[in-house]
Formats: sequence, C-alpha cells, structure tokens
Amino acid sequence: PTIFVITPTYARLVQKAELTRLSQTFLHVPQLHWIVVEDSQHKTPLVGQLLAKSGLSYTHLHVATAKERKLQEGDPSWLKPRGVEQRNEALRWLREDRKAQTDARGQQGVVYFADDDNTYIFSDEERTIRHRAAIPFQVVRFHVGWRPSRPFPMDMAGFAVSLKLLLSNPDARFDGNAPMGLLESSLLQGLVTMDQLEPRADNCTKVLVWHTRTEKPKMKREDALQAQGLGSDAAVEV
Ligand code: UGA
Ligand code: MN
Repeated sequence: PTIFVITPTYARLVQKAELTRLSQTFLHVPQLHWIVVEDSQHKTPLVGQLLAKSGLSYTHLHVATAKERKLQEGDPSWLKPRGVEQRNEALRWLREDRKAQTDARGQQGVVYFADDDNTYIFSDEERTIRHRAAIPFQVVRFHVGWRPSRPFPMDMAGFAVSLKLLLSNPDARFDGNAPMGLLESSLLQGLVTMDQLEPRADNCTKVLVWHTRTEKPKMKREDALQAQGLGSDAAVEV
C-alpha cells in the first residue's frame, strides 16, 4: 500500500532547505506519495519546481491560513496552531479529489503527517497499519511528561492512520480551535479509541522521528547591505 505523506509548508528563508532535506529522505521510501500543501494564496514556483525535480510522486496543493489565525512575526511559536488548514486540505483531497481512485484497492494506504522541519527514519513497518484488526499488543498508556491527561498525548509526527479509517470517518479533521496540545487529539478522537491504537517501531522500542527545528537565519548584515543599495541579487532563488 502507498504511504501518503502530508506536509504543510510556508515561505521563509529555510523553506527550500527543509523541503530538499525532506524530499531526499522520501526518495529512499518505495511507494510514497507526497502531498505538499502550501500555506499561501497560490502555489509558488519555488515549491512547484522543487517538486517537479524531486523524482517523487506528489500532489501540490495550497490554502492560506486566515490572517487572524496565522502566527505573526514575534509571536511565541505556541500561541496558535500551525499547518491546520493545510492538513485539512490534504484530507479533503484524499477524500474528494482522489475519489475516482478509491475503489477497493485505492482504499489501501497509510496517511502520515510530516512537518517540513522534522527528521524522519522510515521503516517498512509503517506501511502495514491495520484497521481495527485483532492485535497482539495494545497501547495502555503513554509515557509522557507534558499534559499526560490529553486524550492522545502524541505529537503530529508520532502516529499514522490508515486511509480506510479516514475515508470511513469523513468528518474527522483537525480543529484549529483546539486548545494548545490538543490538535492531534482533535483528529484522532474522530477516528479511534485508545484501545484501537497499534504500537509501532518495534513495539515502541525505537525512535524514528526527531522534532528538530531549524535556526532562523540572521539577516542583519544583508539588511544593512540592502539599506546601502548593495543587497544580494533578489532574482536568485533561495
Ligand atoms: C508542533 C507540532 O510538531 C506540529 O505538528 C503542530 O502543528 C504544531 O506544534 C502546532 O501546535 O500547531 P512546531 O515545530 O512547533 O510543531 O511547528 P512548526 O514546525 O513551526 O509548524 C508545523 C508545520 O506547519 C510545518 O510543516 C510548517 O511548515 C507548517 N506551517 C507553519 C505553516 O504551514 N504555516 C505557518 O504559518 C507556520
Ligand atoms: Mn516543527
């Protein structure tokens, strides 16, 4: 079955670096379809060309986060949830636009949410998420320090869901109004209960993803050069 990877992304100086790194990770994974959703008014040439040259199977979508919902320069990163409308747009694409392909065979697949800045290892185990099948192992609790009382105390990168499950629960989506830390739960609550979760990564003994964050480039010198009319060539794509 195909692994559908959903990545929200937005324009910034490191965007091309992030997407390049990610695409090179995904090239190692057989039968992966990358759904990239830009947080922008329209699809940008930068992302379009990167995808076209990537060698990956992909779908390029866009939806701009409403201004009042968007994190502003200087806001602390936790103030508003990020990538919500973009992930929901990808879910809409899977459910509606891809409908023609969703015969019995087309329902097979796994959906994973991969932010553009994390670091991922793909193991073949991820391809085989069952759908409410009887399983030998169950999740009984999470070992987590921050807000363990959350319904599903997991990061976005900590789970995958079967496509079938998403298609059979057409209203399940991310709730941008969910309180901090409950974004993941807002989707999962519409799909599963705790006892239906299947532990992965060798029964949760392996770390396969890191919540890495890229340092923001310092532009002070460039700004100073620009102020003197000596800025770098703006026509060069960064
Ligand atoms: C953490 C989680 O890992 C995210 O999955 C979750 O969406 C986020 O918190 C949240 O609470 O909303 P964090 O590293 O803080 O992630 O967030 P970012 O990496 O800055 O953003 C998550 C994704 O949304 C990225 O793929 C990013 O490119 C995208 N994004 C961010 C946008 O599409 N638009 C934005 O304005 C900002
Ligand atoms: Mn991140």
